[in-house]
Amino acid sequence: MTAPDGPLRLDAPREDALEHAARLVADAWRSFDRFRPEEPPLDERVRRLLESALPANPSPVHDVLDDAARILDESIAQARPRYFAFIGSSGLEIGTLGDFLAHSYDINLAVDARAATQIEDQAVGWVGEFIGFPASAGAFTSGGTVSNVTAIAAARERALPGSRHAGLGGRRLAVYCSQEVHYSVTRAIELLGIGSDNLRAVEIDGLRRMRPDALDRAIAEDVAAGVIPVAVVATAGTTLTGAIDPLDRVSDVCEAHGVWLHVDGAYGLPAASVPSRIEMFAGLARADSCSVDAHKWLYLPKACGVVLVRDDRALASAFSHEQGYLPHQQHELHAADITLEYSRPFRALKLWLAFRAHGAAQFREAIERNLAEADLLYRRAQHTEDFEVMEAPPQLSIAPLRHVPPDVTDLNAHNQALAEAIQADGRVYLAPALIDDEVWLRPCFVNYRTTDDDVLALLEVARELGERLARTGSAA
Ligand SMILES: Cc1ncc(COP(=O)(O)O)c(C=O)c1O
Repeated sequence: MTAPDGPLRLDAPREDALEHAARLVADAWRSFDRFRPEEPPLDERVRRLLESALPANPSPVHDVLDDAARILDESIAQARPRYFAFIGSSGLEIGTLGDFLAHSYDINLAVDARAATQIEDQAVGWVGEFIGFPASAGAFTSGGTVSNVTAIAAARERALPGSRHAGLGGRRLAVYCSQEVHYSVTRAIELLGIGSDNLRAVEIDGLRRMRPDALDRAIAEDVAAGVIPVAVVATAGTTLTGAIDPLDRVSDVCEAHGVWLHVDGAYGLPAASVPSRIEMFAGLARADSCSVDAHKWLYLPKACGVVLVRDDRALASAFSHEQGYLPHQQHELHAADITLEYSRPFRALKLWLAFRAHGAAQFREAIERNLAEADLLYRRAQHTEDFEVMEAPPQLSIAPLRHVPPDVTDLNAHNQALAEAIQADGRVYLAPALIDDEVWLRPCFVNYRTTDDDVLALLEVARELGERLARTGSAA
């Protein structure tokens, strides 16, 4: 059967376009299997495309798909096995297929969508089971930023009931976190009218974890001064070094003061599922809410965040609305009643598919491998003369290191220049980070394609470029 006529029809049969796109995807997957020796520069065609004006008329679909593939190939893809910057993702293949299917049906998960709505609930439950959090409700989000603001909005409503309608009425509220909290929490506090001046950055210990005694003091002082504590945000895997706040002892403090505990595990929480780290997350099950990003350490393509809550009324009390065009007839709550977004893609499908296609055990195995990779880098660098590592081994899969050649006096400038040289070189990709005012190289391992050879290549490339920089002042 041929496709109907009219505008917005392709110049070729859509089945051919689909096959063409599938070939491009298969090429991309093959190119991600192994590292590539360099990042290609932008070619002439891409440069011209970047300058083109709004197209008035159609172009052949095969040509425009080829152009898209060319642009993607000349961009920095986190899916490559030697991408070690920030906290990447892997574009897990079954997840890509899940997105493709979900986008093809274009279901809106705002109101009840029958099976898809139930799959979202089921996937929320599976995530809770995987990490060991007793979720009674939750939702898929665009990521940690939205998950954190969602959970803190629920906490604000519990701390000051009615404040979503009446505002804060001049009351002073505060939120508590470690000094190394992700800045999405700062933004959440600003958006929720609490004010980032009222975000209490609690001291950290030698392992860069929130100190429960300092937290206890900070809350007690605020309460004595008439400030209302809204929530404690503990981080289970900080973005900077992967430190895990002591959740059990932080829970004790929260319970003693009756304060909501949110665990920001956007990066680290998947590691709560593996035998080698499970103990480090003890106390997670006592939290009121948590965030986990499947587009980080569950390897899925962006965007796939999840916010989970223990009390199934908590999100609705902060987000539900009654509108004439959205009556609550058959369904007590719509997804839009427990989240910030209205138009919501079917993000849950890719995670549901991934758990079905691979099983939870394979995810655990991949996470353990990433943990071993961080450990391998740490131990190798520790036994060299020209690299420095942190005093304690990695808690998760981030292993910061510095190049410290003997004749370099300004190590910060040297490591900053080295990070830039590594990015320009393109054999491996990583980013620098500032730890206690020192510039470090900060590799993070969250890709299931990365091998031990890739990890060791990072050290070799950093050494080669670092030595050249130290000797000649240039890595070129
Ligand atoms: C601990 C933590 N929380 C929140 C976020 C924000 O997540 P997203 O970028 O998905 O919004 C990040 C991102 O790296 C993170 O590491």
